[in-house]
Amino acid sequence: MDNNNVQRDGFTSKFGIIAAAAGSAIGLGNIWKFPYITGVYGGAAFILVYLICIAIIGLPVMLSEFLIGRRAQANAVGSFKKIAPGTPWYLAGWLGLAAAAVILSFYGVVAGWTLDYVFKAVTNQFSGMTPDELGGAFGGLITSPLRPILWQLVFMALTAGVVLGGIKDGIERYTKILMPLLLVIIVVLDIRAITLPGASEGIKFLFSPDFSKLSGAAVMSALGHAFFSLSLGMGTMITYGSYIGKKENLGTTALQVTIADTLIALLAGLAIFPAVFAFGIEPGAGPGLVFITLPNVFNMMPGGYIFAIMFFVLLAVAALTSSVSILEVVVAYFAEEKGISRKSATIWAATGIAVLGAFESLTYSVVDFTLPLYKGGEVLTLPFMDWMIELSDLMLPIGGLFISLFVGFKMLRSDVEDEVTNGGEVKVGYLGAFLFLAKFVAPVAIIIAFLNMLFGWL
Ligand code: PFF
Repeated sequence: MDNNNVQRDGFTSKFGIIAAAAGSAIGLGNIWKFPYITGVYGGAAFILVYLICIAIIGLPVMLSEFLIGRRAQANAVGSFKKIAPGTPWYLAGWLGLAAAAVILSFYGVVAGWTLDYVFKAVTNQFSGMTPDELGGAFGGLITSPLRPILWQLVFMALTAGVVLGGIKDGIERYTKILMPLLLVIIVVLDIRAITLPGASEGIKFLFSPDFSKLSGAAVMSALGHAFFSLSLGMGTMITYGSYIGKKENLGTTALQVTIADTLIALLAGLAIFPAVFAFGIEPGAGPGLVFITLPNVFNMMPGGYIFAIMFFVLLAVAALTSSVSILEVVVAYFAEEKGISRKSATIWAATGIAVLGAFESLTYSVVDFTLPLYKGGEVLTLPFMDWMIELSDLMLPIGGLFISLFVGFKMLRSDVEDEVTNGGEVKVGYLGAFLFLAKFVAPVAIIIAFLNMLFGWL
C-alpha cells in the first residue's frame, strides 16, 4: 500500500489542480440545481444566504479536506487511518465512500438525461413543441424503462474511461481541456441571455433580494447545497488533496476553487433567468427548469437551435468532470487499501455503481420500490431514486461535520499549521480564524441544520 519507491500519481501543474478540483465542484449542482432552487426560494435573498454558507462553512471544510489528504498522501479512508491510527476516525472515510456510491448512482442517471437532451437538441426535436409537449417529453424520458439507462451507461463508460487513465494522464488531462470549454460556452450563453429584450427582469430577480421569501427551508437548502456544490463531506477533496504537490498553497487553492464554483453557479443563473423572464415564463419551475422550461425558451429565442445544443453540452461536460472525481474516491480506496489494480478497481466500481443507478432509474418506471424517509417532522414515501438523492443530502453534512471536527480537535495544531504553511514556507494570517471556523462555526451550523432537516423546526 505505502510504496515509497514508486512515485505516487498526482497533478503536475497548478492549472491542472484547479481544473480538476473546480471541475469536481462545478457540475449538475451548479447548472441544473442551483438555478432551480434559487427560483423556488425566491432569488437574490437565497443567493445571499448561500454565499454566507460557502464562506463560513464551505471554505474551511474544503481546506480541511485538502490538508488531510495531502498530509496523509492517501485515499479518503487511508488518510484517517494514517493520521489517527487505531482510532475509529476512519469510519468518516467509510461514510464518504458510501456517499460516493450513493451520489454517483443517481448522478449518472441525471447526467444520462443530459446526454439524451444533447441528442434531442442536435436532431432538432424540440422545435415546434408546445410547452405542454415539452413537459410530456421530459416526463416520458424519465419514466421510460430503457432509454435513460442506455444513456446512463454511456455516461458511466465515459467516466470510467477518464478515471482509467489515472490522475496525470486521465483526470488532469481531460479536465484541463473540458473546463476552459465549459467557461467559453457559459460566457456565450450569458451574453445571449442578457442581450435579449426584457432580460433585466431576470437580472433583478437574481440580484435584488426580497427577504420576505426567505424561509427556514431555504436556509437549510442553501447549506446542503453548499456541500453538494463544493463536492464536500465525502472525501473527494481529501482524495484530490492527496494528489496536490507539497509546494502548492492549499489555502489559495481552496479559495480559488470556491470562487470558481460560485462564479459558475451565478453565471448559470445569469444564463437562465434573464432568458426565462424575457419570454414571460415563471421562474419557480423546480427540477424541470432546465429540461422543460429551457427548451421552451430556446424555441422562442433567435439562434435557439445552436444555443440549445451548447447548453446541453455544457451540462454534460460539467457532469463528467464531477463524476470522475466521485468515482476516483472509490477507485483510490480499492487500489490503495485493497491492493487491487487501478484498472480492475475502476471497472468494478463503475459497473457496480451503474447497476445501482440503473435500478434507481427503473423506480421511476416499471419497478415499484419506495422507501420511507423521515424529514421535516413527517414521513415521506419516495421512489428509491429520490430517496437516494435525499439520503445524500444527509450524508454530506455529516461527513463535513466529522472532517471539520477531525482537523479542529483531533489533529495536532502544529501539524495543521505545518501543512497549511508548507512547513513554514508560506505565511498564513488566517490559521486562527480557520481553526475557529473548523472547530466551532461549521460543526454547530451543521448540527443545527441537520436537526432542522429531520425535525422541521424552522
Ligand atoms: N459538486 C458536484 C456538483 O455540483 O454537481 C457534485 C458532487 C461531486 C458532489 C463530487 C459531491 C462530490 F463529492
